[in-house]
Amino acid sequence: MRLAGRHVLLGVSGGIASYKSCTLARRLAEAGARVDVVLTRAAAEFVRPVTFEALTGRPVLTSLWTPGTALDHVRLPADADLLVVAPATADFLARAALGLADDLLAAMLLARTGPVLLAPAMNDAMFAHPATQENLATLRRRGLHLVGPEVGPLAEGPSERPGRMSEPEVILAHAERLLHGAGRLSGRRVVVTAGATREPLDPVRVVTNRSSGRMGYRLAEAAWARGAEVLLLAGPGTLPDPVGVAVRRVETTVELEAAVREALPAADVLVMAAAPADYRPAAPPDRKRSRQAGALQVTLEPTADILAGTRAVRPVGAVVVGFALETGDAVAKGRAKLERKDLDLVVVNDALEPGAGFEHETNRVTLIDRDGGERALPLLDKRAVAEAILDAVEVRLG
Ligand SMILES: Cc1cc2nc3c(=O)[nH]c(=O)nc-3n(C[C@H](O)[C@H](O)[C@H](O)COP(=O)(O)O)c2cc1C
Repeated sequence: MRLAGRHVLLGVSGGIASYKSCTLARRLAEAGARVDVVLTRAAAEFVRPVTFEALTGRPVLTSLWTPGTALDHVRLPADADLLVVAPATADFLARAALGLADDLLAAMLLARTGPVLLAPAMNDAMFAHPATQENLATLRRRGLHLVGPEVGPLAEGPSERPGRMSEPEVILAHAERLLHGAGRLSGRRVVVTAGATREPLDPVRVVTNRSSGRMGYRLAEAAWARGAEVLLLAGPGTLPDPVGVAVRRVETTVELEAAVREALPAADVLVMAAAPADYRPAAPPDRKRSRQAGALQVTLEPTADILAGTRAVRPVGAVVVGFALETGDAVAKGRAKLERKDLDLVVVNDALEPGAGFEHETNRVTLIDRDGGERALPLLDKRAVAEAILDAVEVRLG
């Protein structure tokens, strides 16, 4: 429950994208937030209040004049940790820029002193209009945060144009980052490696392993949500880039090593969640091997130990986290790895454990720190594991 105890005011104005705000309301509630939804009169034409009420388990507000809610327009914006308006229509942006308070949502925005996140969405001509552009510039200058709009198909047709509301997951990620505020990872530079590398056997075939990269992706996502500037060095794969994170693709262990060495001097935290290939075919031919040639014997040579190789270039005070995927006696082997590679933290898991490790959305790990601390976590989804790892990283950053 990443947003447990947090209070989010979700304003919805009258755009066609308001159907996606149902998903956003749900995701916020699922993350543990208390979500109070405020609809403009136009929004209630698109999605009825009862839908949001059912999704959030809370009464939905639609008017300044509902009996029993007289001071909600000032009380709720003062109480909420975050005000999100999604979608923010051209009309709403204009009223916000003017400082109007002619309906409940506009009045709440005017009464709000804490963080505000707006997700504009409209037809591309409405978005390009100088009035809208000036209103957006005014709101940005006043310190409101904007997410989107994106370029994509609009309600009017399939062609790609600017004006589409960001997806609920993207808005959620931005909301989370704002809710974390000036957390301990705020402004820190975090480098995360993820996935397998692959080594050529010939120009067509590769030697690789079963790592999907999910653990590293969840770590990158979670670190960005905590306010960090994140660089993800990722092996080949099909996972979507995490919101806000800079992603650099690598193929082989040599490429990953070079990318880590380049990024490390500026890093406050290095998390090596990748599973680099430990062996590579020696002297791969530059032509495809033919099956007709019969049985194939390949000499595999060990690749470089990336983590151990970073010892000389680690910035003073940087927190370095390694992963140890073992089969049997995992904790003892993890502790030995921590010492051998001079790590601050090692995340140990057993590859033979059901539901954990490669190709799963869940993982069961034990965290071992440099001072001998050991914490065995239950089977959790990888985002929750990532949060626990980052909690431990934050303690070590001080
Ligand atoms: C079918 C339909 C779709 C609309 N979609 C949008 C939209 O995506 N963005 C927008 O700014 N206005 C859109 N409008 C216009 C707004 O509903 C209108 O400007 C309204 O006054 C907005 O009120 P509000 O800002 O108080 O919610 C749409 C109108 C209709 C009829």
